[in-house]
Amino acid sequence: MVLVFIREGKCVKIETNQNSLQLEPKASDSFTSTGFILAAIGSSVGLGNMWKFPYITGMYGGAAFFLIFILCLALVGLPILLAEMVIGRGGRGNAVSSFHNLSKTKWWGYFGFLSVLSAFAIMGFYAVVAGWTMNYAFTSLTGNLFENPDYTASFLSFAGGNMPIFWTIITLIITCWVVAKGVAGGIEKFNKVLIPGLAVILVILMIRALTLPGAGEGVEFFLMPDFSKLTAESALVALGHAFFSLSLGMGAMLTYGAYTSKKQSLGKAAAAVAGGDLLYAFVAGLIIFPTVFSYGIAPGQGPGLAFMALPAAFAAMPLGNLFGFLFFFLLSIAALTSTVSLVEVPNAYLMERFKWSRAKSATIVTLIIFAISIPASMSMGILSDNLLFGKTFFDLLDFVASNIFLPIGGLVVTLFTGYAWKRAGEEAGLSGFWYNAWMFCLKYIAPIMVIVIFLYSIGIIKF
Ligand code: PFF
Repeated sequence: MVLVFIREGKCVKIETNQNSLQLEPKASDSFTSTGFILAAIGSSVGLGNMWKFPYITGMYGGAAFFLIFILCLALVGLPILLAEMVIGRGGRGNAVSSFHNLSKTKWWGYFGFLSVLSAFAIMGFYAVVAGWTMNYAFTSLTGNLFENPDYTASFLSFAGGNMPIFWTIITLIITCWVVAKGVAGGIEKFNKVLIPGLAVILVILMIRALTLPGAGEGVEFFLMPDFSKLTAESALVALGHAFFSLSLGMGAMLTYGAYTSKKQSLGKAAAAVAGGDLLYAFVAGLIIFPTVFSYGIAPGQGPGLAFMALPAAFAAMPLGNLFGFLFFFLLSIAALTSTVSLVEVPNAYLMERFKWSRAKSATIVTLIIFAISIPASMSMGILSDNLLFGKTFFDLLDFVASNIFLPIGGLVVTLFTGYAWKRAGEEAGLSGFWYNAWMFCLKYIAPIMVIVIFLYSIGIIKF
């Protein structure tokens, strides 16, 4: 059947088949096929890869953890990633309306609304950490970073002060500006320049790290598996991280998927994004472990690894200013390409829901995030004793989003694609073996694993 729609004042012809819309977005609202892959890699590669992945790998068993992470990416991450992209393109809407467009049952969309809330919660703390990386890039270059050799004390006093609020504002302004410029003119252009730039900086830093004296020990730690260190907890952390790292469970890939053309192979795109994400994490490991080992720093330093341990290594390294700057600049870029995708989730929702212009919607979303990020930032300082459910506001945002909203969002995607929406395979362009393998993961492996991490992370099951 052919239908004629009026969309944003323009006549658009579409063909429908039962419950899948064949609408092509307007050129300004759509990605080219490389643009889509780069933007999706931009969303997935972020602070998760360069800041979180190395320290959790250090804490949970080095190479053995890395192997489990690869398994989680392949069996759970990749199938859900493809499912999100497919729902977005099939439904041609935002994280809520795409479900409504594909199903008569309203409940799916209500769950989709959780994604919009998760985006606010994640951005509330992610923008603060992105701001820290910008400050560290700037102060590496000026040399101020290396003035006080007690890097732990300087980090704590910096993070607890007012300066991070300034850098959070800078992060939010850049993000808002890119989102307001639109899909083709903003998000795609931004990622097309920055993602290849990121790869170049990563290679420079990897060469520097691998040629440091004693680098081999770090490489060995990262690449020689010691399965005795592997616990059930590390497997669950690996799974949770696969989720966060691929930006799953919160509608980012779904929202981007809605801007792709029907001609794009989403299976190949999902494989490229998961592969790209893994490659960036791998190279980040090849930078951080050799660097810290070479300067005798323990790898399992927790969240402070990048901000407390690495500056010490850069201070001791020839041309440390430059390498420190490159490292933190890399982190800032990686963070910005992710914040853009995070803001686009509520932005797309509000634009459609209230018929707001892109600029108005992006500005309102940014202001709300700013209001959330101020107490998040201050919870590192004057609000550090104000606990809610035993956590600072910063930790609470991370906990609620990463451990509650994201798993529920991921579960909704698997159940919707695996059980409710019958045309998912057609939209994904999969048949035969690959379709069956995808469905097997979505129907059985992914939901069970997601439920287990969920129950574990909220403390209902213990190992
Ligand atoms: N994938 C990003 C990272 O690894 O840093 C974080 C993220 C971005 C999570 C976008 C969720 C999201 F929608």
